[in-house]
Amino acid sequence: MQTHDERLSFLRGAVPVIAPSMLKCDFGNLHRELELLHAADAAVLHLDVMDGHFVPNLSYGPMVIERLRERSETFFDAHLMISEPARYLDEYIRVGCDAITVHLEAVPDPRELLQRIRSSQIVAGVAVNPDTPFAEVEPFLNDMDLLLVMSVQPGFGGQKFLPHVVSKIQQAREQGPEGLVISVDGGIGKSTIAECARAGCSLFVAGSSVFDQPCYSEAMSELRQLAMEPQAG
Ligand code: DX5
Ligand code: ZN
Repeated sequence: MQTHDERLSFLRGAVPVIAPSMLKCDFGNLHRELELLHAADAAVLHLDVMDGHFVPNLSYGPMVIERLRERSETFFDAHLMISEPARYLDEYIRVGCDAITVHLEAVPDPRELLQRIRSSQIVAGVAVNPDTPFAEVEPFLNDMDLLLVMSVQPGFGGQKFLPHVVSKIQQAREQGPEGLVISVDGGIGKSTIAECARAGCSLFVAGSSVFDQPCYSEAMSELRQLAMEPQAG
């Protein structure tokens, strides 16, 4: 089994990372989708868990992740859009997630949960909705490994990117600890990825901009290229 440090260094090392969001994949043929993503060398798969309560939509839970794990060695980045994540956390740990992110709006003081995740050798993340101010997450930045900045209201793929979140990414980069992994999720595509990269993001969740394209590999490498340019310049 990998340690927390190994998993975290992997995320920090492979920069920038495009993480296809499995919410937008063909649920009728998950096996084929996994094969295509493996062939496209996806380094991280983003798994959107929704409970129909915290968000007005329902996706999948630990049973599906467990079956995917049997067929994939890729890094699994689980995004729990669920109420009371503390109740279900052990299941997500057990089925083989490499990173687990909980919402600050579901757990206003996430310190204990983050500690539970880290002590299970898993990368610990906190997600913030577009309208949650930076000041609310700032006190916990040293307790987490990953900050997931939502750039759409959570619940559905295919929404339009909300540009006001870019300043939150910037604040987190400037005020957070050096090794903090900053991720952005929602409406990430060719026209929005570069500004997030410039603001300090290194892990880009991409649903429509990968799965609605004919070639996943090409879509991902185009996005990666656009995310690298601002750093080079
Ligand atoms: C939304 C999810 C996202 C979503 C992204 O609640 O967290 O991961 O699938 O999809 P796009 O990239 O299409 O906005
Ligand atoms: Zn997500």
